[in-house]
Amino acid sequence: MDPEDDSFTNSDLTESISLSQIQNHVRELPDQLLLLYRAVECTRNGIVITDPNRTDNPIIYCNQAFAEMSGFRIDQIIGRNCRFLQRDDRDQPAIKEIREAIAAGKTITTIIRNYRKNGELFWNELTVSPVHDASGKLINFIGVQNDVSARKEAERRVSEFYSVISHELRTPLTSINGALRVIEDGSAGKVNAGVMKLVKIALGNSDRLMRLISDILDLKKIESGKFKLSLQKVPPVSVIDTVIEALTPVADEKGIKLIKQVTAKHSVVLDPDRVVQILSNLTINAIKFSPPNGNVVLLVDNPSPDSTRFAVIDQGPGIPADQIEKLFVRFQQLDSSDKRSKGGTGLGLFISKSLVELHGGHIGVESTPGKGSTFWFEIF
Ligand SMILES: Cc1cc2nc3c(=O)[nH]c(=O)nc-3n(C[C@H](O)[C@H](O)[C@H](O)COP(=O)(O)O)c2cc1C
Repeated sequence: MDPEDDSFTNSDLTESISLSQIQNHVRELPDQLLLLYRAVECTRNGIVITDPNRTDNPIIYCNQAFAEMSGFRIDQIIGRNCRFLQRDDRDQPAIKEIREAIAAGKTITTIIRNYRKNGELFWNELTVSPVHDASGKLINFIGVQNDVSARKEAERRVSEFYSVISHELRTPLTSINGALRVIEDGSAGKVNAGVMKLVKIALGNSDRLMRLISDILDLKKIESGKFKLSLQKVPPVSVIDTVIEALTPVADEKGIKLIKQVTAKHSVVLDPDRVVQILSNLTINAIKFSPPNGNVVLLVDNPSPDSTRFAVIDQGPGIPADQIEKLFVRFQQLDSSDKRSKGGTGLGLFISKSLVELHGGHIGVESTPGKGSTFWFEIF
C-alpha cells in the first residue's frame, strides 16, 4: 500500500491517528499480509474469493486446498463462477439457498454435492460470506469449503445399519420370540422339563436381543433429535404402580420385594410411557444388583412444590466414586471387577438420561460402596 496515497489516509484511517502511527501501520502491513496469505495458503479448507462487481461473480483467488479438492489447476479455476463444481447436478435445494443468500448479501453455510475434475462426487460443506470495504460497500464474497464426504459416508452406513436392525433383525426376532413364548406358557402343548429349560434360556436371550434392538432404535431417534414426547398430566404414583406390576415377577424370581413410598402430592406433566421406561430400567438394574431376598424401594416425592423426584433405592454393592461418571455414557461398561455390566446393553442409563433431559429434568446417583445406590431423576 502506498503511504503517499491520499485515499489511504482519508478513507482507511480516522483523523485521530497520528502520523507516526500511520508510518508504523504501513511498516507492519506487509508482515500482516504475509501472515494472512501464508495462513490462507496452508489451511486444509478450500478458500475462494469472488468479485460480485464483475459479470457472473468470478473467482479471483483460490488457495491450494481448493485446487486439490476440485482436482483443477489454479489457472483453470480463476475467472470461473464456483458453480462449475456442480456440473449438471443443479437440482439441489442448497443451490437456491446460496443464490438467495448471495442476492441478500448474507452469510450462508450449507452442504452441497460437487464434482472433482475426474467426475468423482464429493460433499462440500460450504460457507459463503460477504466482504465489505470501510464504507460498507460489498466488494467480495469469500467461500470456505470443507470436504465432508467421509462424514456423509459414515452417516449413510449408520443409517443403513439402523434399517437392517429394524427390518431384517427385529421382524424375524419378534416371531422367534413369540414362538418361544407360546411354548413356554404351555399354549403349544406340554413339553418335558429338559426342553422347557432350553426354551427358557432361548427366551431370555431373545428378550435381551429385543431390548438391545429397541435401545439402539431409541438411541437413533434421540441422537437425530426426532424423539417426541407425548406429555400428559398424571399422578406420579400411577407410573410407580405400572412399574411395580410389570416387574414384580422379575423381582419374585430373586425373592426381592419392591416397596412403594409415595409422598408426592402433585400431578406432574410427563410422558407416562417414557417415564415408565426410565423407572423400569432403573428398577431392573436395582433388582439385578441387589442380593437375593433384599428390598428395592421405588419412591416419589416433591423436593419442592414445583418438582417431582422419582428414586430407586437398592441394597446392592454400590458404585465406587471414580466409576460414577461413566454410568450415563453410552456403551460404557464399568470396570470388569464390578458386575454392573451383566446382562445390560450398555445403553439403558444413557437412554434414561436422554429421556429425562427431553423432559427438561435431570438424573443422578448417590452411592455408598458396600451399602447400595439410589438412582433418582427429577422433573419440574
Ligand atoms: C465465494 C463463493 C464460493 C462458492 N463456492 C461454491 C462451491 O464451492 N461449490 C458450489 O457448488 N457452489 C459454490 N458457490 C455458489 C455458486 O457460485 C453459485 O452462487 C450458486 O450455484 C447459486 O447461483 P446460480 O444459481 O447462479 O448457480 C460459491 C459462491 C460464492 C460467492
